[in-house]
Amino acid sequence: MLQPEQAPPSEPEIAALFRSILPYGVFVHGGPIAAPLTTLFDSEYELVRSAVTKRQREFAAGRHYAHLALASAGFRPAPIHPAPDRGPIWPSDIVGSISHTDYCAVAAVASASILTALGIDLEHRVSLAPNVIALIADRDERALWNDNKLPIELRDSTAPLTFSAKEAVFKAYYPKFRRRISFGDIQIRYTGVPSRFCVQAPQLPDPDQSFLASVEGRFAITTNYIATVALVLRCT
Ligand SMILES: CC(C)(COP(=O)(O)OP(=O)(O)OC[C@H]1O[C@@H](n2cnc3c(N)ncnc32)[C@H](O)[C@@H]1OP(=O)(O)O)[C@@H](O)C(=O)NCCC(=O)NCCS
Repeated sequence: MLQPEQAPPSEPEIAALFRSILPYGVFVHGGPIAAPLTTLFDSEYELVRSAVTKRQREFAAGRHYAHLALASAGFRPAPIHPAPDRGPIWPSDIVGSISHTDYCAVAAVASASILTALGIDLEHRVSLAPNVIALIADRDERALWNDNKLPIELRDSTAPLTFSAKEAVFKAYYPKFRRRISFGDIQIRYTGVPSRFCVQAPQLPDPDQSFLASVEGRFAITTNYIATVALVLRCT
């Protein structure tokens, strides 16, 4: 999670930001981290009962928006427990994803009949130090930024956008393959299609590489936030 030097105000438009880039049939709720712990199911509360307050608040907010998203999708809200790897265990036939910053949380879900994979990420729009940028993208990937097809007003945010895109891609990828990938395993490409990115992973084996090539990346940027989505549409 990227942190701003100074806290921006909470932004209730977070859900609208994601709705602007999510396809029809994906349900998203989000906003400030304000949900009381009482909105958690008992079994969810047990998971964070001993956690520090910050973790309790972000967990409660993420689950609160996830429950709302499930309800919007027509599913009965149910406890969403984490797997040992921390990824949320969604009801069967649902794909979903959660993200939070210090101030906001967001959750999106869709029927697995529409999407086969979904990852979302929300970050503060901040400048990054060179050593952090070097971790996110290696020299070869950064060299491609010189031929950047992002709109000129967004180019100073290429690094945090790429960070967010890789986090969203990881959240879409991991539940399918149960393998961790690192920042250097994937490259994010901005093709010139507005608000879109694609993914390349030439060093990963198949089927990982083919899956990542099928990921449709979408992003939205405001003054304070970067929202990214990685999804794979089901074509049946
Ligand atoms: C999982 C990870 C991507 C979360 O990103 P983050 O920016 O730190 O935090 P966010 O708030 O955006 O997302 C946190 C949520 O991601 C979800 N998440 C955690 N692990 C996950 C996994 N393995 N698969 C899918 N979703 C996962 C959870 O819902 C979590 O919130 P919760 O614990 O309250 O339920 C990150 O912590 C991580 O493990 N990264 C290592 C892998 C990586 O970054 N690889 C490089 C990119 S390819």
